[in-house]
Formats: sequence, structure tokens, C-alpha cells
Amino acid sequence: MKRIGVFTSGGDAPGMNACIRAAVRTALSRGLEVFGIYRGYQGMIEGDIVPMNSGDVSNIIQRGGTILKTARSDDFRTEQGRRKAAENLRKYGIEGLVCIGGDGSFKGASILYEEHGIKTIGAPGTIDNDLYGTDSTIGYDTAVNTVVQAVDKLRDTAASHNRLFIVEVMGRDAGFIALRSGIACGAEAILVPETPTYIDALIQKLRDGWNRQKHSSIVIVAEGDESGGAYEVAKAVKQNFDRYDVRVTVLGHIQRGGSPSAYDRVLASEMGYAAVEGLLDGKFNAMVGRQGREIVFVPFEKAIKHNKELNKHLLQIAATLSI
Ligand code: F6P
Repeated sequence: MKRIGVFTSGGDAPGMNACIRAAVRTALSRGLEVFGIYRGYQGMIEGDIVPMNSGDVSNIIQRGGTILKTARSDDFRTEQGRRKAAENLRKYGIEGLVCIGGDGSFKGASILYEEHGIKTIGAPGTIDNDLYGTDSTIGYDTAVNTVVQAVDKLRDTAASHNRLFIVEVMGRDAGFIALRSGIACGAEAILVPETPTYIDALIQKLRDGWNRQKHSSIVIVAEGDESGGAYEVAKAVKQNFDRYDVRVTVLGHIQRGGSPSAYDRVLASEMGYAAVEGLLDGKFNAMVGRQGREIVFVPFEKAIKHNKELNKHLLQIAATLSI
């Protein structure tokens, strides 16, 4: 293999730049030529492909977002779009790809291999942490820290005004961000899609707290929770327990931005490095994962199955500590 392409795809995540840097520099150190593909699969289709050298990835390890930009490409969902992408890769002599993205991006890479034999290795870049086979995805730690900083600030207002804040966090269908940030913030309740949500029990808990003179509270709701989200929870609480002054904060895309944490920078560096080494070692259709101290390669089909479980121990801790 002489030439590889690197791209970011799907939602951006803090640490993607650190991963691009690692992949580019590892590839160059191994004598490969590297091409950056802009805007993910969309740029692949449109031929937005440029050679990269070491200097192109200087001074980016600390930056959020992705210098290669990213997209969710509708054109790539079509056979015609994928054919065009493969043609462009061949035109540049690109034999292997490093894809930094999430489940949709890896699914796309699998189809590209099936149809056109293009070999891709993945680095998990998503704040959601919803990929099976890795303890953590690139961007997850930073997103959790962003939530914690925001909720710490909300707590000041909650305490000063005797208010209940219902805070909605991202995660698509998964509750990883909610659970970890909820524990770190000392939330009174954490509602996640992986476990049933009993609104009556939540209201009773808030009532009990109020009766114990607990007059400010934080509830974290994952966006994919069955309650329907923070506004629905707030409505139910207001209807059934009127003592609290209830406010809703939806943190939204603020969770995707900002400078990556040291943890994410190191993880991204390890994964970018491993991705290139893996490609050279003949691995493809697989995602780099970190399990404990080990770097592993997980087949795409397993990684994207959406069966990664929340840490039961953390669920238990959350339930025990949030009285
Ligand atoms: O996958 C990352 C993520 O931020 C999810 O948590 C969220 O549901 C989704 O992307 C939002 O997507 P978009 O940026 O396209 O609105």
C-alpha cells in the first residue's frame, strides 16, 4: 500500500483533529503518501481530495471540530454516489482509507468495500460513545466534561432560586453521556433510554426530597429517553408537583464543540496511529477500539450493532447516591 486517504464523517467530535494528525504523521513515517478527503463521503464523491504533509496537521491537536470538515452525505446512500466516490479514489491511487466517524460512517465504509473493494479502517469519533468494542470513543470524555461544566453553572442558579433544572443531553439512542455526566454532577435523577423511565417514581422522589428541605434539584435526561425529552419531563412534573419552579435546559451542540480533553487527545493519537498500522497490517472493515489498556480491532458489523451496554455498576452507583 502506497497511498491512503483520511477523512472525518458524521457528527464532529472533539479529538477528531488529534486523530487526523496521528494518522497523517504515522502514515508519513511509514513512507506512505496521504490524502485528506474533505467533507467525508460527500467530498469523496465530489473529488475534494488534497495531498497532506506533516505541516498540514501542525497546531491542531488542541482544536475542536475537524480541519477536514465533515458531512452526513445523502448522495453516498445511492449506488451512483458510491461509484463516483470509488472512481475518485482510484483516480488518486488511494488504496486504503482511515475513516474517523461513527456507526453510519462505518456502515458506509462496509458497503464501499462490498461494491468496490475499497479497504477502510475506522477510528471511533463520536461524542455518543455508542460503538461496541471500545470503552470510549473519541470526543466522549470532552462532551461529558462540557456537560459537567454547564450543569455546575446551572446548579448555582438552581440553588439560588430553589429551582428544578431538567437538563437534556445528547447521545442519540444511547445514555452514556447522561449516565457519566449525571454521576459527575450529582444529579438527583438520570433518565436514559437503556432503562425504563417511571415518571411517577421521579415525581415521588422529587416530592420526598422537597419534604427533606431539598429545594433545588438537577435531573439529567438523555435525548433518546422514552420520556420524550426534557420538555416532556418538565410538563409531567409541573402537572403533578407544583412546589418547584421548573426550568429546562437543552445543551445541544455545545456538547460537540470545544478543545478536546487530554484523555481524548491521547485516545485519538493512539487510535490514529493504530488505524494506519492496522491498514498496513492488512486489517480493514474494522474499527480500532480501546479495551482496558489494549488496542483492539473490532469488525465494523459488530461495532455498529448498537448493543453496547451501559455500565451496570455505574447505574447502581447513580441510583444509590442520588437520594
Ligand atoms: O452523533 C452525535 C450527535 O451529536 C448525537 O448525539 C445527536 O443526536 C446528533 O449527533 C445530532 O445530529 P446533527 O448535528 O446532525 O443535528
